[in-house]
Amino acid sequence: MRVITFGTFDVFHIGHVNILERAKELGQHLIVGVSSDDLNIRKKGRPPVYTQYERMKIVSSLHCVDEVFLEESLELKGSYILDHKADLMVMGDDWEGKFDQFSDLCEVRYFPRTEGISTSMIIERVALDFS
Ligand code: CTP
Repeated sequence: MRVITFGTFDVFHIGHVNILERAKELGQHLIVGVSSDDLNIRKKGRPPVYTQYERMKIVSSLHCVDEVFLEESLELKGSYILDHKADLMVMGDDWEGKFDQFSDLCEVRYFPRTEGISTSMIIERVALDFS
């Protein structure tokens, strides 16, 4: 089973590790699409703290991750799934229902997010602590 997931993975944290480890448990090969800096600006309205190259290197260094590629457009999700021959797509439940349209290409599953942490939360906390 080949598993695919997508995300920005900026300011890498425990919620990121948890979803990647859970995704890998469902298959043998985990592929991660890391959002490009431009896509992140379009999607979240701000540039990431770490560049796309830094984020890709961090994610690819994890034991549970087998393959990493740059996700440059949300519209290309279907092509990414087909190109990487994914059997299953995993996303956090903040995306619940948003990728059901791809269920004719691969199985789609949503995992509960790790509570109490997000990249935005860390950025806010650090900004407050050092202001
Ligand atoms: N994720 C998770 N638990 C968290 C945070 C993220 O399971 N506490 C999952 C997301 O659901 C997504 C993946 O990790 O499937 C990548 O999420 P990303 O958007 O990069 O991280 P966030 O911390 O949600 O970033 P932000 O605060 O900028 O939205």
